[in-house]
Amino acid sequence: MISNSKKVAALLNPLKMSEPVPTDADFDGGIYIGKTLLYRLPFFLNTNRLVNPHISIVGMTGSGKTYLLKSIIVRFCRNNKFDLFLLDWTSEYSDVMRYIGGKIVTLKSAGDLPEISSLITGITCIDISKIEDESEKRATASMVLNGLCEFMVSLPPEGNAKKVIVIDEAWKLVDFDKLLGRLFREGRKFGFSVVVATQLVKDVNNEILANTACSFIFRLMGSENFESLVSSGLVLMENVDFIKSLGRGECMISVTERDSGMQFSFAIERVNGFDFSNYTIGGELINSKVSKERINAAMEKLQINNDGRIRVLRLFESGSGNVDVSSLVSTLSSIGLNRAGIILFLKSIGVDEAFASLTIESLKGVHFVD
Ligand SMILES: Nc1ncnc2c1ncn2[C@@H]1O[C@H](COP(=O)(O)OP(=O)(O)O)[C@@H](O)[C@H]1O
Ligand SMILES: [Mg+2]
Repeated sequence: MISNSKKVAALLNPLKMSEPVPTDADFDGGIYIGKTLLYRLPFFLNTNRLVNPHISIVGMTGSGKTYLLKSIIVRFCRNNKFDLFLLDWTSEYSDVMRYIGGKIVTLKSAGDLPEISSLITGITCIDISKIEDESEKRATASMVLNGLCEFMVSLPPEGNAKKVIVIDEAWKLVDFDKLLGRLFREGRKFGFSVVVATQLVKDVNNEILANTACSFIFRLMGSENFESLVSSGLVLMENVDFIKSLGRGECMISVTERDSGMQFSFAIERVNGFDFSNYTIGGELINSKVSKERINAAMEKLQINNDGRIRVLRLFESGSGNVDVSSLVSTLSSIGLNRAGIILFLKSIGVDEAFASLTIESLKGVHFVD
């Protein structure tokens, strides 16, 4: 893959960027995120050195938010021995949970919720993907997090963060602004670092941005998305075009240090993370890695029957993990998916939607059902 870092670097005004220089304290206790764009300095995130322990991640779909979350989770849990509480909407975290030896609690309905106290120690992922009704799913997520807030208040105050609460797709939460505000407040007192990722800045009020001492800004489009970012001082007007041009995994970071009170705003070449993928999908326009879990989740979402599932998995297993996109599309078509279904499938396993459509259009000899 050709990196467009040089291209994007040319768009930046270096005088408006301030890249933090790593210190011994960062190497000791900080987690590695990636190299800065201008001076290629390693950037370590150390929440204990920031004005608060909370982290926000914004960016459009496919920009790299979940990849960063997984990287943060692995390094917080494995290197820093943090406890973890993770809410998983679509069962896309089973790979990372297996990697770090976490426990997955699957809820099938709102009534399934076990005692929060039993979930709060160790590494726990609450998987709500099996709750079919979308509004029940959202209500359950909010209930879980409210329960967590109630529970936190009964804990003794704690100086530095030792536990991390991760909420991906935060915009889905019912009353998210109130709920997150509460989590941020209580979390800070009781030693929880709250990490929130969301795609829509417009709807996410300044509560999130104002409460997080570290913000990651991935690719975003739409001027309305930039209003709160610019008004909160996280992004300079001059950097808006740069953010619109970011590639997958490239981002801007803003951190506010506790001792110096200084705010650094800079860009990262590419987030350094982990590869949990088992399979590769290759083709003229596509070269994408995907885990077995993600394929299974996509098949479930599209309600593919058992026979169909077996055929798809067999295809992935047959080519020692490498699948040509045209054979994948043929197989999906032969088990009854139409064009829209195939695009949705490819999108669900992380293939860019535009690429998925282009690929399908470019394939000859595949017969699609209507
Ligand atoms: N920094 C990165 N390095 C390598 N691959 C990445 C990186 N960031 C994202 N990806 C890949 O790009 C795809 C989309 O990323 P994802 O994190 O799921 O986006 P989002 O959560 O913002 O929708 C995934 O297949 C992911 O593995
Ligand atoms: Mg995501």
